[in-house]
Amino acid sequence: MSPTAPGADTPDARSIVGELDRLAQGFREDISALSTEQEIRLAQARYLGKKGLASELMKTLGRLPPADRPAVGEAANKTRAAIEGAVATRLAALADAALVGDLARTIDVTLPGRGRPLGTLHPLTLVRREIEGIFAALGFEIRTGPWLETEWNNFDALNTPADHPARDMQDTFFVEGDFILRSHTSPVQIRTMLAGPPPVKIIAPGNVFRRDDDATHTPMFPQVEGLSVGASVSFRDLQATLFYFVQRFFGAGTEIRLRPSFFPFTEPSAEVDASCFLCQAKAPARATCRLCKGSGWIEIGGAGMVHPNVFKAVGYDKHDVTGFAFGMGLSRMAMLKYGISDLRLFYENDLRFLQQFPPG
Ligand code: DAH
Repeated sequence: MSPTAPGADTPDARSIVGELDRLAQGFREDISALSTEQEIRLAQARYLGKKGLASELMKTLGRLPPADRPAVGEAANKTRAAIEGAVATRLAALADAALVGDLARTIDVTLPGRGRPLGTLHPLTLVRREIEGIFAALGFEIRTGPWLETEWNNFDALNTPADHPARDMQDTFFVEGDFILRSHTSPVQIRTMLAGPPPVKIIAPGNVFRRDDDATHTPMFPQVEGLSVGASVSFRDLQATLFYFVQRFFGAGTEIRLRPSFFPFTEPSAEVDASCFLCQAKAPARATCRLCKGSGWIEIGGAGMVHPNVFKAVGYDKHDVTGFAFGMGLSRMAMLKYGISDLRLFYENDLRFLQQFPPG
């Protein structure tokens, strides 16, 4: 509807006031359906903006008789105030509704939280990392080698002749082609020495494979190899290194014992024992100790001085260097450390077993 009576030159004050009232009413109805602040502000501009409906209406003010103007001006102010008030009310209602929505979604903070299950590290991983840390502190670097290995790296270069029982089909997994699954981590010694000149000081953790499968053997098991080669590396250094290791791994006060033994790649060779950390190798506990079975000692690996034939195979001059090597079974170390009696637990993936270990 036009704010002025059709055909009339002079606008009629009463009809303008009525028109203004209707504007305010129309605005309230318009914005009741709007649900965002942006829409409401646009509507506000459509009514009150420079080219808005109210402004258009006010343009007729100048043509009113002066006596009528105050009443129309007052009505215009009321309309403006009504529109602004309606905007404020509608925005407040929207904010309230949003808050109610938020509150309805919000969790009850007094309820106990949902637990997020944390994975744990496998005991073999824990033990490998601990051993790596101990040898790293002595300056050993960590090296790894492939599971598929040549017979030369795994046996020949390690002074293990072709007729040695370890090469028997019973022990070693032969793979099609010229490869075998490595039967120990010792070939990493060969790879490391072939890769560069002395000095060499490495440990090599990794899985090895043998055709064994019973309560105390799994066809795959982890070992850690150690090798230190330099101008004057002695048997004493080997003893000191192993001694340091058992102190940190099994606890202060642990002793070591080396028993003469044989490995093709070391001369002399030794079996390495640590004094039993359960009974402390002391009477009377020792007599009934389930770990050392009364001997006071537990076997932890093999060791020795690098055989001159090994140096020859990798092109090191035995007159320039000496070295020691050692090897131990990681599963054995983990069994000892955590009091685990069955080797197969490591590979059965039973969560009840695995969850007993810390997350790392
Ligand atoms: N390779 C040996 C094995 O698997 C362990 C071993 C013994 C490694 C003596 C060595 C060593 O480096 O010196 O039974």
